[in-house]
Amino acid sequence: MTAADSAQNGGKTMVNLTIDGKPVSVPAGTNVIEAAKTIGVEIPHYCYHKNLSIAGNCRMCQIEIKGMRKLEIGCNAVVKEGMEVATQHTSKTVSDAQAATLEFILINHPLDCTVCDQAGHCKLQDYHFEYNAKQSRFLEEKEHKVKAEPLGPTVMLDGERCILCTRCVRFCDEVTETSELGVLNRGDRSVIAINQGRELNNPLSGTVVDLCPVGALTHREWRFNSRIWFTKQTDSVCPGCSTGCNTKIAVRDREVVQVKARDNQAVNKEWMCDEGRYGMGRFLPKGRQLSASIAGTQSSLDNAIKEAAATLKNQRVVVFVAPDMTLEEYTILKGLLGKYLKGATTVLAHRERKLTKTEAILISPDYSPNFRGAEFAGLVSGDLEASYADALDKFRAGGFQHALFIGDRSVMAQDLNPQFLSALAAAPGTVAIVTDADSALAATCKVVLPGRSILEKSGLMINRAGRLQYTDRIVEYQQGSEAEWRLFNRLAEQLGGKLVTVGTERELTLSLLGSEPRLQGAKLSAVKQGGICLKATLGSVVSASHASTSGGDQPGAV
Ligand code: SF4
Ligand code: SF4
Ligand code: FES
Repeated sequence: MTAADSAQNGGKTMVNLTIDGKPVSVPAGTNVIEAAKTIGVEIPHYCYHKNLSIAGNCRMCQIEIKGMRKLEIGCNAVVKEGMEVATQHTSKTVSDAQAATLEFILINHPLDCTVCDQAGHCKLQDYHFEYNAKQSRFLEEKEHKVKAEPLGPTVMLDGERCILCTRCVRFCDEVTETSELGVLNRGDRSVIAINQGRELNNPLSGTVVDLCPVGALTHREWRFNSRIWFTKQTDSVCPGCSTGCNTKIAVRDREVVQVKARDNQAVNKEWMCDEGRYGMGRFLPKGRQLSASIAGTQSSLDNAIKEAAATLKNQRVVVFVAPDMTLEEYTILKGLLGKYLKGATTVLAHRERKLTKTEAILISPDYSPNFRGAEFAGLVSGDLEASYADALDKFRAGGFQHALFIGDRSVMAQDLNPQFLSALAAAPGTVAIVTDADSALAATCKVVLPGRSILEKSGLMINRAGRLQYTDRIVEYQQGSEAEWRLFNRLAEQLGGKLVTVGTERELTLSLLGSEPRLQGAKLSAVKQGGICLKATLGSVVSASHASTSGGDQPGAV
């Protein structure tokens, strides 16, 4: 093939080459590791990460290129027209080199897999099994290095397990630009260290643990809490803010035992913030509201729903809505309010804060993961922060006698002040749907219904940049709780109608995707795999007052 054969594809010049004899066509500038991925060939690698600079230090990704006298590294070899690449699958020289590289890397490795948190999801274990699996010939004393050294408030280093790939160093240099880490000494004495007078405490610090291919970096929060194979891991979306970072959450016995970032180049690359990662457990309160109550006395759910409907019917109601609910729930709620509680004032708990330069790399200035969903459903619009503040003021001043609180976060924690709570106690008609039995709302509202946490639900979310994503249930719901959309439906039945005919959460999602014209053509599988950008549909909404400072769908972000 010649350069003239290069095809034009989407404005990018395509380059044709072969890998293990198979034809590959990729955009110019792609490296061989990424090119091989497009035909399902994995070239093993440690130091390479597509969002970091090329370090070329681990030598795991060696390949043979026809015409080159020595082996090359796939991470640093950019595709060329007519290039012929052989990987470990077709070249014995390559597979021997990879086995030798692994043997060298393992020389000083402590092999303490039995007590290492990374065991079961460690690239050193995986690659040794797949590309070497020979006994070590090293008989000498291994080099000893720092063990269990805190690098900062979130991350612990085991220097002996480190393979010096420098991913953690490059992340702090290139992404957060905080440069806390470096490599000290040379040769087999080399070790990752904190720069003098510093600690690893940037807002994205836990991301270095995700990037570490071995067990050298561990989360101080979750060390030794569970072997990974005893956990249930679910791909979901972080409900911490409206960036909507893609996550993999490991749970054991209903406890969040580890949270990892998942790669989504359009949203969070493979980063997460510490507040979202280590704060995931806050969405599962310890004291759960698992039954309904009326005036502080436990009641059947049927009676409490009747009482709630009677309390709110034909009244001037203010509805405070939590920002961490699904699009499906907001849509059903919109139906309830529009048909049966007409004239209600509806506000979403939303407030923005000023972010530091490092926070703004990823984090959104709100704590409202699905405020776009609430806007999309037509539940709220305009200046969300101002309307929430106005409703709070009015409620505190006794301007509303009837209120419906939907979700633990329907009123932000800092707004549950004495003035608000005395207005809440004085109001004769208050209904709350909560999960936290220890919350002020549960303690004070006249009718309390047991809801579910966002971590117990599956459904659609729209992030700040207008990307439709899917949050998957990471823990089973608690017996005694009820899905909010079912509660809305039951309230509607008491008020004279019906809102939904479907029976399950999944049917609810599919019916919304099938019936909402603005979501036409959105397949659930595509929403689950990286999401769908609705920017064109949302148009002016996304680019209006809540324009994102983060999110990969925005130019120049993350
Ligand atoms: S601590 Fe982990 S990420 Fe950092 S250099 Fe060592 S192996 Fe790589
Ligand atoms: S940036 Fe937002 S969505 Fe991402 S991890 Fe942090 S809190 Fe969660
Ligand atoms: S991945 Fe290529 S040298 Fe490390």
